[in-house]
Amino acid sequence: MAAARAISTLMDAVEIVKKPPSRLRPPYNPGKDEQAGGMMMADMSGKVVIVTGGAGGFGRAFTKAFLDAGAKVAALDVTEEGLASLRDEHRGVNEDRLMTEKVDIADFASCQAAVDRVAERFGGVTVLINNAGLGMGSVKENHHIELIGIDEVTPEIWNHMVGVNLTGPWNMTKASIGYLREAERARIINVTTSFFTMLRGKFQPYGPSKSGFEAMSASHSAEFEEEGIMVNVVVPGGPADTPMVPDGAGFDRADLVQPANMTYPALWLCSEEGDGMTGNRYIAGRWDKEKSIAENREATEAPIGWPDLAGDPVWPGGKPDA
Ligand SMILES: NC(=O)c1ccc[n+]([C@@H]2O[C@H](COP(=O)([O-])OP(=O)(O)OC[C@H]3O[C@@H](n4cnc5c(N)ncnc54)[C@H](O)[C@@H]3O)[C@@H](O)[C@H]2O)c1
Repeated sequence: MAAARAISTLMDAVEIVKKPPSRLRPPYNPGKDEQAGGMMMADMSGKVVIVTGGAGGFGRAFTKAFLDAGAKVAALDVTEEGLASLRDEHRGVNEDRLMTEKVDIADFASCQAAVDRVAERFGGVTVLINNAGLGMGSVKENHHIELIGIDEVTPEIWNHMVGVNLTGPWNMTKASIGYLREAERARIINVTTSFFTMLRGKFQPYGPSKSGFEAMSASHSAEFEEEGIMVNVVVPGGPADTPMVPDGAGFDRADLVQPANMTYPALWLCSEEGDGMTGNRYIAGRWDKEKSIAENREATEAPIGWPDLAGDPVWPGGKPDA
């Protein structure tokens, strides 16, 4: 009985991505794409963007880019000190369009309260960027050099990281979905990680927490598509120049992906051209702002997750349509 339930749950998971990749990729619009260029700025005036992990490396880049594009931005983070320094960065420039909230995304009630406050102050929620995350550096600083095996991972470490990296984005999505349904040009942008990291040995709980988040992203893109909420994943593709990769990690920082790169596909996805674009994953480290959108899409875009493995389940009566 339990085994049958487990198999059925597994089949549900296998079924998460039901659409062939071609349906997830609207054709290029050469006229608009070419004129836009790789650095195209969406006009985000009047839009409300929530950035979780807003005080971190990518979070600061997202916050600045969306403020520069005219949006009202709510930066959420667990560190009040980090949020204070973020406010200082924007003091006298965009501070009227920036709000900060101290939130632990692992706690649903705090997420809902913060999202409600954002919607009340800014008049809704247009874009949710699920960016906050906890890296393996929270377990051991030099984890890139001395990988972390199961003996070093306690149940507390496991539950905490899964709570932030997987449950956290679900909490934020659940808390925001009612507002997103009301918004024009609603978007969810999820920051997972590279497939290499997800499957790497001695990189737990980070890898599994992010592969769960990747699957959730595919599933939510399918679920919310009919409601006009576009769900896409943006990843750096490898280690990036943020506090999550400490100096002791053994990399030359000049070789790391720059946080600003994350903002190029994100801004484009939030533009009018992003209408109808859902279920895709962008490797921001390969996005070249000197190149056109069409070239960048070709170089960086693929369906979220592993839909090629989900297309042929052993299913009574054949694969369900939806
Ligand atoms: N830096 C990389 O190499 C890299 C690579 C792939 C994916 N990512 C992902 O990118 C995202 C951003 O990471 P980053 O590189 O900017 O790291 P970062 O450490 O600079 O930023 C992460 C932010 O998340 C915040 N945070 C942590 N726990 C939280 C919680 N419970 N509630 C709210 N906020 C919380 C932190 O305070 C921090 O400000 C993460 O999800 C990370 O997993 C990073």
